Amino acid sequence: MGEATIEPVRLPPAARIPKIVQGLGFVAAREKAVAALARRYGTPFTLNLPVFGKTVVISDPVLVKDLFTTSSDLVGRASNLGTVLGPGSTFSLDGDEHRQRRKLLVPPFHGKRMQGYEHIVEEEVMREIANWPQGEEFETLQPMMRITLNAILRAVFGAEGAEFDELRELLPHAVVLGSRLAVLPAIARRDLGPWSPGGRFASYRRRYDAVVQSLISDARADPEFAERNDVLSLMLQARYEDGERISDQHVADELLTLLTAGHETTATTLAWTVERLRRHPRLLARLTAEVDAGGSELRQATVWEVQRTRPVIDGTIRMTRKRIRLGKWVVPEGHAVVVSIGLAHSSEESFPDAKSFNPDRFVGAAPDNHSWIPFGGGVRRCIGAAFANMEMNVTLRTLLREFEFGTTYARGERHHSRGVATAPARGGRAVVYRRSAGSSRKSTSGAQRASA
Ligand code: HEM
Repeated sequence: MGEATIEPVRLPPAARIPKIVQGLGFVAAREKAVAALARRYGTPFTLNLPVFGKTVVISDPVLVKDLFTTSSDLVGRASNLGTVLGPGSTFSLDGDEHRQRRKLLVPPFHGKRMQGYEHIVEEEVMREIANWPQGEEFETLQPMMRITLNAILRAVFGAEGAEFDELRELLPHAVVLGSRLAVLPAIARRDLGPWSPGGRFASYRRRYDAVVQSLISDARADPEFAERNDVLSLMLQARYEDGERISDQHVADELLTLLTAGHETTATTLAWTVERLRRHPRLLARLTAEVDAGGSELRQATVWEVQRTRPVIDGTIRMTRKRIRLGKWVVPEGHAVVVSIGLAHSSEESFPDAKSFNPDRFVGAAPDNHSWIPFGGGVRRCIGAAFANMEMNVTLRTLLREFEFGTTYARGERHHSRGVATAPARGGRAVVYRRSAGSSRKSTSGAQRASA
């Protein structure tokens, strides 16, 4: 809402649990701990965490809107990701530098550009599914990771080259390790030799830097460089307001940010999509009929509902630079404010019958930006939201066109935290049959019990 310098501090109810227990609960089972505290104290509430200190947790759309629209002079960046991705990453920038970087990155990821990327995603899906086995259960998470990594690589670098193979091999390992390191204290990230986690990450980073430096040199040497509009070229051509260009090291940090932030989140959401659809045969049949008829409304609503019920990032965080007012609360300077995406999405007021998976709630009614917040909000809202939405839409469309999915009565897969993103614990298992193979199965009648 705004600055509240002269108002007395008024924090929401505090959890009366020792700091260390709150910290352990948060690290071990963030979502469950937050849901349990919300049941006990209502929302918002205040925590005392080992690394962040006093932390206010909010989820009510009115407070979320207040926070997301509060000026960046009053609240700033608090994400840990910058420490892993480097000082040139959007996650590390704040204030003016952050604003200028976003100005540069928004155009290639703007909704208007999305149609131009659709063929890339469709090609990557077709390449990946060429060898999917028929009639046997398999995990879709790794295939989804390959699709989304290849799609973002092509969008960022504009073309494919031999260097891509090295990045394809390297980045999945770097992301798994980096996501874990990002949620651990600074000491765990230190390079203590080749076998330490920090040392292994540093070695991935050296390999990555070498590849990106060679891609940067190739781009600069390209006679068509000035006409190129891939993200790498845009960053190399860009100038800050004072005429300075972005250093190559910062370009490398930012590209790593886009490649990593841009693929695991989308892949885990896609794996959840498969997990949800297999358990909703009637919806699956309607979606297939819609694809066959060339429609997209229910598919878009389904993507939104998967993101509501299975948000892969469970919260986003800001640090107060000054005393601010949020609704009736007054939060002092130096406090963390966490927006719990999970709590916001499970609110009965915002989403009646919130527990049920029901895409029809979004048919003809796009979600509201302060109660449906899988991409965060305000000046730090996810840069890749339109890209991710397009990718999920095209992937789902292609899968429904090509396959009939075997459905199941098995209980839903549990949540598994990969550090930053949360994935279905069994990898979003699927059973598929090629539609073009003339299969006569019906999606709705083929329900089968999943093994185990
Ligand atoms: C389903 C997929 C995705 C989800 C759920 C997701 C979620 C998020 C969330 C919650 C944030 C923090 C927003 C905030 O603090 O308010 C974020 C930031 C960000 N995301 Fe995504 N994201 C996804 C895909 C992508 C893609 C495809 C890209 C790249 C093309 C990307 C790039 C970024 C960047 C650069 C930021 C930092 C923005 C800033 O600090 O200004 N994300 N994302």
